[in-house]
Amino acid sequence: MPTIKINDVELSVTPGTLVLDACRTVGIDIPHYCYHPALTPVATCRMCLVEIKGQPKLATSCTTTVPPAPKDNPEAVVMEVFTNTPAVADARAGVMEFLLINHPLDCPICDQAGECKLQDYSYSYGSGDSRMAEVKRRYRYEDLGAKIVIDKNRCIHCTRCVRFTREISGGGELTVASRGAHLEVTTYTGKSLDQNPYAGNVVDLCPVGALTSRDFRFKKRVWYLKSVPSISRHSALGSPIWIDHEANQIHRFRPRPLEGKETTHFISDEERYSYAHYNRGALVQGPLLKGQAATVDALREALQAAGATAVIGQGTFGCDAAQRLGELATSADLRYGSGDKTIPVVLPKYQTSADGILNRRGFTERGFRFGALEDLLGKVQKGEVKAVVVLHDAAFTSSKEADLLGQILKAAPFSLALEFEASDLGRAATAWLPITSFAEESDFIVNHDGELRRYQKAIQPPKGVRTVPAWVKDLAAVPVLA
Ligand code: SF4
Ligand code: FES
Repeated sequence: MPTIKINDVELSVTPGTLVLDACRTVGIDIPHYCYHPALTPVATCRMCLVEIKGQPKLATSCTTTVPPAPKDNPEAVVMEVFTNTPAVADARAGVMEFLLINHPLDCPICDQAGECKLQDYSYSYGSGDSRMAEVKRRYRYEDLGAKIVIDKNRCIHCTRCVRFTREISGGGELTVASRGAHLEVTTYTGKSLDQNPYAGNVVDLCPVGALTSRDFRFKKRVWYLKSVPSISRHSALGSPIWIDHEANQIHRFRPRPLEGKETTHFISDEERYSYAHYNRGALVQGPLLKGQAATVDALREALQAAGATAVIGQGTFGCDAAQRLGELATSADLRYGSGDKTIPVVLPKYQTSADGILNRRGFTERGFRFGALEDLLGKVQKGEVKAVVVLHDAAFTSSKEADLLGQILKAAPFSLALEFEASDLGRAATAWLPITSFAEESDFIVNHDGELRRYQKAIQPPKGVRTVPAWVKDLAAVPVLA
């Protein structure tokens, strides 16, 4: 591998590595706007300029690659890069001044404030002065569909959003119109970002506050939010996400890119806006038995008295929940899996499975059989199974499956539903217990690619709402598998 020197620090890198990436490996973060690891580099913003020994002009580190070493000297130093010279500092200050010529000073009302690259780099590399005496260019904000709002005054023309719609989501809804200071990002005539099921990603990609989410706009200052690493339950792979929350309310889900894993940069709008499902509204009921408030002891006694018990676990819950739930089954063959949601595959490169039951693998590894609910119905009707415990979330079950589950619960002499919020199915069960949502607990899943993905508790569950393992512990007087 060739050797390069970055500010006199030597390192060996693979030929073809971008200088910007090589700098990052030695802890030097080169400021950049238009560069994004998942998009084609275009070198339009000029913020990433570095000095390279022997080159007459500064070079863009987002498009300059490390050359191969000469065959007769594989260890040779092939490039010397400097990121901290006066020329580089001067270039960065110049680029900042240029980008701010038309950028309004509206940080106090901008959603991006607090996570804005323009703010950060202005503070770190800007000159602190502006020589701009002319009136700034002005546009009114525009809707790019129902979900995304653009404020063109703030745009620095990095084209990340345009490249995303062309290279990643493929619809090509966005383009740049006009030239020079009048250049503006807009949609093609007749197109809207509503047609793009991944549109929300342009908000994350925009390094300034030009593209904002209608859903999040003006709702929260980001520095009040706490970010907790989690996963998206609404994707096949359990995409890594940040849960941003404050005062026990979730305000947004954002992608949480994993180093070197390009597929983790983006999430679908369905995943992004699913956060609302996990903010509790009405007061949560406690344990119910035959529609009346009851104690968990009463539920345990009823379950014990019923006899042979089968469990149905929906494969959208965590592996700890699956393990504990499985222990309630009277025998290993009485563990059944449920959940039949499918996800339309829009981006085959990013969606390797259409199966919306993200922890099917984790449940299967713990002995749950999927596609066998008819078998359980037969056993219940024949009286071989007297009690059924179902772990369920209505958002991941088709009406056909919900109907089958309903028949099973109706035929069983005793049934217990564990749910995050009461569904029609839960109300049809003999007994009901409130459980935590995935945002209110820590657990892990094994996704369809066999990857283990952990998620952490972000918000507190209401009083009386407990995790599945905690409830099962209380119901543990029921015969437990050896
Ligand atoms: S709207 Fe944002 S992402 Fe798009 S070109 Fe402008 S600054 Fe870049
Ligand atoms: S990041 Fe290199 S030119 Fe924009």
